[in-house]
Amino acid sequence: MLTSLWLLLSLAVPVQGSYFSVSCPSRRHCQRALLSNNDIMLHCNTSGAQWHFIFLQNKAIWVYNPASTSNMETMPDGSLLIRNPLSSQTGFYSCRDQEGRKVVQYDIDFQDVETMHITHKDLGQKPLQNETLSLGGKELVFTHWEPWQDCNRCGKPGERKRLGFCYIEESLEKPMPCWLYLGDMKLWSHRMRPEMQVETCHVPCTSLSEEHVTFDDFELSENSESAWLTCPLGSIYRPITWEANSIPLTWKGQLSGQDVNTVLDASNGGSRLQVFQGAIYECFLQQELTARFNPRSKLDVLASLNTEDLQQQPGVEEAWKGKADSVLKGLKLMLLLGTGLGLLGVLFKLFHPSWGRRRDQLLVVK
Ligand SMILES: *[C@@H]1O[C@H](CO)[C@@H](O)[C@H](O)[C@H]1NC(C)=O
Ligand SMILES: *[C@@H]1O[C@H](CO)[C@@H](O)[C@H](O)[C@H]1NC(C)=O
Repeated sequence: MLTSLWLLLSLAVPVQGSYFSVSCPSRRHCQRALLSNNDIMLHCNTSGAQWHFIFLQNKAIWVYNPASTSNMETMPDGSLLIRNPLSSQTGFYSCRDQEGRKVVQYDIDFQDVETMHITHKDLGQKPLQNETLSLGGKELVFTHWEPWQDCNRCGKPGERKRLGFCYIEESLEKPMPCWLYLGDMKLWSHRMRPEMQVETCHVPCTSLSEEHVTFDDFELSENSESAWLTCPLGSIYRPITWEANSIPLTWKGQLSGQDVNTVLDASNGGSRLQVFQGAIYECFLQQELTARFNPRSKLDVLASLNTEDLQQQPGVEEAWKGKADSVLKGLKLMLLLGTGLGLLGVLFKLFHPSWGRRRDQLLVVK
């Protein structure tokens, strides 16, 4: 049910700008370091675009059909969408036009976000130092920093981050992203990791618009006593921040060990938040309120069950469907009903442990 809700919500949001996209001038060859686990779109401005790619790990095998790789999709405008790329998908991505002429080629190094080194300037944490390797010559491993992203909040203190990618420079040669440089050579070094650096920022608000605010609710799971909240369209390439009951959740709080009731998932730049307490959580993407999550207590669910006669479940569902004045409302109610039925099922099993067995016996008799 949540999936269909998601689908509707993502359809409601304009597709333009929803993915971080990378472009390269026509007939050119571009090299880029990116991070694993964050969706990206590679542009190819031609009709009838055909994508071919080769992963450096399994050298010499060109793949001619993006659809055969489950996280890739060719979009109607010719771009290639890669969802949650893996570091093993580091390689060459080539786009050809209808006549088979090469339009553009991307050499992409998807650096492993799980190994990312995170530092906060205000906590005095230092980024990684330059280091030399000796793979035959004298290679320097260093971090190539991207520009700082925008401040994640305006009108009040926020934070901004910048991403740093692992590059290798050989004397007199142009530096290359580490794993494009290494190719299928296996080498492990503690220095060879992407980085993220954070600092505090304060910018005035220019224009505020809250055009696409998603409303959702959540429940702490019984096992982990936590819930994961996802900020729609969030990505590590975008400024993003969360508030719990209007109190900002910061990287500083997390990295200094002060915030213990929430965990920002660094592997997507904090687009996903793990929460351990019921509160109103709001996420801001590019300084704009994007989603609000309200806690749904189990008492609410039980109270709503009391008012409905669950013996007549199909009728109830139909009545609800009829009453719902919008698709979204309908989906929400069905979600509630589903959770309610699940809960009732658990209660039923608890209080009637023999129920399952008796049904089995009935089946045997029949
Ligand atoms: C795409 O190609 C068309 C025709 O070649 C050109 O007019 C247009 O400016 C290109 N768009 C971009 C974004 O490069
Ligand atoms: C590390 O190496 C890079 C690339 O050569 C260079 O630009 C940078 O200044 C070096 N940093 C330090 C601290 O030496």
